[in-house]
Amino acid sequence: MTDRTPHPQTDLLTSAGPVAAPAAPAGRPRADAEALYAQAAADRLGFWAEQARLLSWEKPFTTVLDDTEAPFHRWFTDGTLNASANCLDRHVAAGLGDRVAYHWHGEEGETRTITYAGLLDEVQRFANALRGLGVTAGDVVGIHLPMIPEAVVAMLACARIGAVHNVVFGGFAPQAVGERLAACRARVLVTVDGARRKGRVTAVKQTLEETLRTLPDLEHVVVVGATGASCPMWPGRDSWYAEQCAAADPVCPAVPLPAEHPLFILYSSGSTAAPKGIVHTTGGYLTGVSYTHRIVFALDPERDVWFCTADIGWITGHSYLVYGPLLNGVTSVLFEGAPDHPHKAIWWELVERYGVTQLYTAPTAIRAAMNWGEELPGRHDLSSLRLLGSVGEPINPTAWQWYHRVIGGGRCPIVDTWWQTETGSIMIAPLPGATDAKPGSATRPLPGVSAELLDADGTPIATGTGLLALTEPWPSMLRTLYGDDQRYLDTYFSRFGKDTYLVGDAARLDEDGHYWILGRTDDVINVSGHRLSTAEVESAVAAHPGVAEVAVVAVPDELTGQAVVAFVTPAAARTGDAALEAELREHISVRIGKLARPKKIVWVEGLPKTRSGKIIRRLLRDLVTGQETGDVTTLGEPDVMAALTAAVTPPTH
Ligand code: WT7
Repeated sequence: MTDRTPHPQTDLLTSAGPVAAPAAPAGRPRADAEALYAQAAADRLGFWAEQARLLSWEKPFTTVLDDTEAPFHRWFTDGTLNASANCLDRHVAAGLGDRVAYHWHGEEGETRTITYAGLLDEVQRFANALRGLGVTAGDVVGIHLPMIPEAVVAMLACARIGAVHNVVFGGFAPQAVGERLAACRARVLVTVDGARRKGRVTAVKQTLEETLRTLPDLEHVVVVGATGASCPMWPGRDSWYAEQCAAADPVCPAVPLPAEHPLFILYSSGSTAAPKGIVHTTGGYLTGVSYTHRIVFALDPERDVWFCTADIGWITGHSYLVYGPLLNGVTSVLFEGAPDHPHKAIWWELVERYGVTQLYTAPTAIRAAMNWGEELPGRHDLSSLRLLGSVGEPINPTAWQWYHRVIGGGRCPIVDTWWQTETGSIMIAPLPGATDAKPGSATRPLPGVSAELLDADGTPIATGTGLLALTEPWPSMLRTLYGDDQRYLDTYFSRFGKDTYLVGDAARLDEDGHYWILGRTDDVINVSGHRLSTAEVESAVAAHPGVAEVAVVAVPDELTGQAVVAFVTPAAARTGDAALEAELREHISVRIGKLARPKKIVWVEGLPKTRSGKIIRRLLRDLVTGQETGDVTTLGEPDVMAALTAAVTPPTH
């Protein structure tokens, strides 16, 4: 069942009034910003062409947008360029080789300083190593690595020779990794012997081994020796990263590629159990991320130290930990660890130590830090900060105020940035210094971006609540879903036609033309800014022999934004008890990953269904959130509701 009713997270709508943009330590004069909006509105394609020309093109483009096969849009089609050359070679050629690209900070406090020249050197070697393994332009290379510099190297090495990277988040369980590698037919996988997490080491390669053997297209596995964890190596298939790099030719010229050459595939969850392979191409994606990184965060590459806390395995990591900062020649902090290890002030320690100027993180992390208490950030000098960013979910006003006051010292603008894996780069966000911030609102579409709020019939709404849509193509948009053009059309362009990209979020538009994102309208759950699909979790749970039937819903959660609640009917031979609960939690960890584990499992004898047998998730959601269950007249068996209400109501003592 696809429930199209928006289900806003209630506390997010209570807004404090507008907060005037402070006299900007970061940002641009208001008049400047207005001129930018006006310029983009007057000549959108000319505006994007101007942004694209800031990249370095091997062959300049003459066509800006080819929309003859809309919505399969193609940008800068006759130009050629290389992503890794834009991230590295041109800065080194400009004399910036000694600039630090990354201050890498390991879990136990070890550090590595990686300059632009050093990164270029290693990228060239590893690109040659990949070539030596038979990788050519268009081949897919899987990358499953923790937050270590080799992850960046592997991505850029692929880009250098036109291989398409598919980064699979390090927190995914073997089965989820295997599914994603199989779906994109990866020929090579770059992974690691072991990954550290909060002082413990997981033997990543060893754990994956069984899954890897089931992948018919996988020819080679390159293993980064990061921890010395036990690691079986298959002769002929497996090799060590360090040995590959040492043996490789140090020079690998970047291959000029057509602008529409695919740069990467990144799997994201949708409304069905099968993850969507979102495809991004070269010229348009790079244009979008470099432009947005520059203007939204008011960059000053000469002196900025940028800290994006996202994992490299998500789109935020791709766009604002790797491509955006490197394209703009900025110095970044790359932190291996968790925010609470070795202690709960580690981020603030890093801000002080590296003199971080912009911090980009997610509301869930801010809420966790709030819970840990403001004395922790108070122990560190955070005065280097001049701008704060938020991404991944709506930021509730309380967290916004805390972030502004405690982390930003009351002086740093906060940019609430709305975008998606599909959009590739930020779409809706304030321009620092120029847009009055409203805690909880991502404010306006950026210059060059056209958004509208639509009612159920697709008619634009001037103010009020509706469905968010993007109404003009933009360079960094996804081009398709890997191997499934039809699903691309069906998911994004079927409801309102090929000119209207349907986002999947509900939003409110206020009198100032500012957007307030309310949350997803499809069966996608946002846990700590990570996207999960109810269908994917359900199909994992249903595969357990102890389960007869299951329905999964999202409920608001103070810390993680949303959390998973599973309604489960045990199989005939089992009862809903602690033992089955433990088995299911473990089962979900193994099939998808820890982040998909339910916050709560409710044992039920039956699920509410329509007469045609579809589960009505809306009723379940209302039940767990304690709302009135409303109209139940479509229920097949109304009695089920009474039993369910009893199941979710805690006994009163
Ligand atoms: C969904 C996209 C974009 C990188 C991280 C997530 C939600 C994202 C915001 C924001 C309110 C937000 C939306 C969107 N979302 N940013 N600033 N305010 N909601 O990427 O996994 O592709 O998820 O995250 O619901 O559709 P993603």
